[in-house]
Amino acid sequence: FLIGLDIGTSGTKTILVDESGQVKARATYEYPLSTPHPLWSEQNPHDWWEATCATLRRVLHDAGVDPKEIKGIGLSGQMHGSVFLDENNAVIRPAILWNDQRTQAECDWIMQTVGRDKVVELISNPVLTGFTAGKIIWLRQHEPHHYARVRKVLLPKDYVRFRLTGEYATEVSDASGTALFNVRKRAWAEELLDAIAIPRDWMPKVYESPEITGRITAEAAAATGLAEGTPVVGGGGDQAAGAVGNGIVETGIVSSTVGTSGVVFAYSDAPVVDPQLRLHTFCHAVPGKWHLMGVMLSAGGSLQWYRDTFCEPERAVAQALGRDPYEIICAEAERAPAGCEGLLFLPYLTGERTPYSDPNARGVFFGITRRCHRAYMARAVLEGVAYGLRDSFEILREMQVPIQQVRASGGGARSPLWRQIQADIIGLDHVTINVDEGPALGVALLAGVGTGIYPSVEAACRSVIQVTHRTQVNPQNQAIYNRYYPLYRALYGQLKASFA
Ligand code: XUL
Repeated sequence: FLIGLDIGTSGTKTILVDESGQVKARATYEYPLSTPHPLWSEQNPHDWWEATCATLRRVLHDAGVDPKEIKGIGLSGQMHGSVFLDENNAVIRPAILWNDQRTQAECDWIMQTVGRDKVVELISNPVLTGFTAGKIIWLRQHEPHHYARVRKVLLPKDYVRFRLTGEYATEVSDASGTALFNVRKRAWAEELLDAIAIPRDWMPKVYESPEITGRITAEAAAATGLAEGTPVVGGGGDQAAGAVGNGIVETGIVSSTVGTSGVVFAYSDAPVVDPQLRLHTFCHAVPGKWHLMGVMLSAGGSLQWYRDTFCEPERAVAQALGRDPYEIICAEAERAPAGCEGLLFLPYLTGERTPYSDPNARGVFFGITRRCHRAYMARAVLEGVAYGLRDSFEILREMQVPIQQVRASGGGARSPLWRQIQADIIGLDHVTINVDEGPALGVALLAGVGTGIYPSVEAACRSVIQVTHRTQVNPQNQAIYNRYYPLYRALYGQLKASFA
């Protein structure tokens, strides 16, 4: 048996699978996210540890498996966050997360100090507000008393690894999102660390994703119910791990994943860089491979906002009936026509990364008429997110990245309506697969590779993943959306100055 954990933004999800990838038990545990100031987004790393212990205990109990039968564990999680540890390994302040937007000044400073071309040469990406580097500089500028105590900076899942194994370690896919990592060389960008005066020894040791990084300590065994000595492999940032879970491990297969964020992910044999730096070029969790990725910050997050803001009664009803509130919202959205007669929604509730890298961008409903009742609003949100995903696909097309099959995944692939909207707006048929465990399954498979159960990541994916459903483009709706897409694109350009 294998275990995969995904330390997500809304909660931790843990699965226990057998060697054929069948899920034997799953458990989730939610925790809060705090926004103490506008643009801030923080979480308490202790919550992740509590969630780790609780979900591990639950899956071991529910599967009725002897902990000694667990061959390996893989860790995945939200990327880019910063956990600051002091010399006693105490957490110094809440972790600053991937969707925190406070660090524009610090990112600008790094880009200016090092120079844009040098930055791109060293890390193959720009320094963006979501990434880790700016957060460390922010701490130095704004909380020097905290900065003075820092001895290690860990990514979210790697803090959990530290609690499980006592090792300071990470792996290439998550390290790629720190803006401190040489993605081409798959090693820390020491020249960059030196140039911005971040001590090299604050960074954990880097492994390839399937490699064993440590073993469960006696203390962690007591806290989680796992057996002491169980190997923990590198795992992956949630996107690379989710890509393994979706089989995005060969040329031509691209995923479109709607979770809180919205991500378009393409495998690559080489570290190719978008000349305009709109897509990220990161190391893949497949050893020696890379990927290109476009990231929207509020994809499912936009629908969640819509649910929380406009659908309180539906939510209560859904809860009472044991139904998913999103099902009710999507059923309502179906009553509005494709294209919503020109009502458009810009999903920039927490700023936007791809394609604009603009923390100041804001959400917009545009083109409201008296005919726009609530179904239009709901459908416009679903469509706005799909237009945002299309932005990333357009860049892949421009870069001539081969797209032979699109796999839709995440919560956003559960609704048939939203799946259809995505196919029609992006203009590509897509498929769904037999698993929707995403990152947790991906890292369980990586644990299987690292412990010798599977010969390679590709082989692990082939043995587990099958296509289950196809969604075909509806040409009539596609034509409607093709008319509105240029307007969707133009709106950001016209509003940009007003957002700032
Ligand atoms: C990827 C990204 C998000 C987070 C949260 O670059 O920022 O997908 O990993 O899930």
